[in-house]
Amino acid sequence: MTHVLVVGAGSVGRRHARNLVALGADASVVDPRADRRDEAADGIPLRAAHADLDAALGAGGHDAAVIASPTALHVPQALAALAAGLPTLVEKPLAATLPDGTRLAAAADAPGAPPVLLGYTWRWWPALRHLRDRVRAGDVGEVRHLRCVLSAHLADWHPWERYQDFFMARTDLGGGALLDESHWIDLAIWLLGTPDDVTADVARISDLEIDTDDNVDLLLRFPSGARAWLHLDVHGRPHERSVTVAGSTGTLRWSDAPDVVAHGTGADAWDARRFDDDRNDMFVAVATELLDVVAGRSVPSCTVDDGLAALRVVEAARRSSAEGRRVALGEVVA
Ligand SMILES: NC(=O)c1ccc[n+]([C@@H]2O[C@H](COP(=O)([O-])OP(=O)(O)OC[C@H]3O[C@@H](n4cnc5c(N)ncnc54)[C@H](O)[C@@H]3O)[C@@H](O)[C@H]2O)c1
Repeated sequence: MTHVLVVGAGSVGRRHARNLVALGADASVVDPRADRRDEAADGIPLRAAHADLDAALGAGGHDAAVIASPTALHVPQALAALAAGLPTLVEKPLAATLPDGTRLAAAADAPGAPPVLLGYTWRWWPALRHLRDRVRAGDVGEVRHLRCVLSAHLADWHPWERYQDFFMARTDLGGGALLDESHWIDLAIWLLGTPDDVTADVARISDLEIDTDDNVDLLLRFPSGARAWLHLDVHGRPHERSVTVAGSTGTLRWSDAPDVVAHGTGADAWDARRFDDDRNDMFVAVATELLDVVAGRSVPSCTVDDGLAALRVVEAARRSSAEGRRVALGEVVA
């Protein structure tokens, strides 16, 4: 039976462990916090719960790893998992900084390195896959503009803990709207390709007691002439997630509440399809892909290179906001 070591037994780590066990794998966890190890062991039949990654890897017996710790730890922990020969699912974002991501890419590209799957999980969301298929099929003609809104108040994310104690509140742990909501940067690239340049405002404007950014506006320009506008915040209520792709012959729009993709070609008529998938489904899909990768039945569909592409936009956005100018992606090297 495939035995997966899940590093970080917080919200998403426990979800991965639970899903992997439901899919027939064995799971162990690593977390320095005893309460997190206990919570995981309480609800999930684990093989083991370790306090320390090196000790867990030293004990051996694993077939794969999942890195589900605070973002700033992704790279050192993924490097350790790869050095132990384990195919690894790294939760998004790949790293907290582009140089860190580049270090991981070098290890992942080394001859004989185990495969790395990256967890930009919205790529597995059926409604967004449908939207992408239709854009690719030409249902909006030539893409002119992408608009994306992600707004979700941080205090609502983890009701079981003070948001001030969550890694998202801390820059040194890789928190903040720009980095954590880079899901939507990844989706913009997944839909339209790599942009030429980025203009950004990355700010903290709310009353949240955090030291990270909480409000991000990005303008991306693509070689085709298309533009994307992305708004990412962690202070808005009610929560909102939407992606709109407007083209020469029509528009496709996804919103998650309700989970609908609407297509329109006239001035105000929409043809809507409802999906209503469960949020956990996309994590099950990623776990399924990890097990397929481990078994050699599949190669990762979301890769380290995809993670670097998103991080280059993150880095360009930071620079654009700090320097008050448009930043070409070509300027951004690790
Ligand atoms: N793909 C998605 O949709 C998705 C959703 C949520 C979170 N994430 C990502 O997953 C990661 C974790 O997020 P979360 O919400 O589960 O955070 P969390 O704070 O709930 O969990 C992180 C856990 O890591 C543990 N940890 C801290 N130091 C550690 C170490 N040295 N070794 C092992 N574990 C350690 C913490 O004690 C905590 O239990 C983040 O990078 C986040 O961006 C992705």
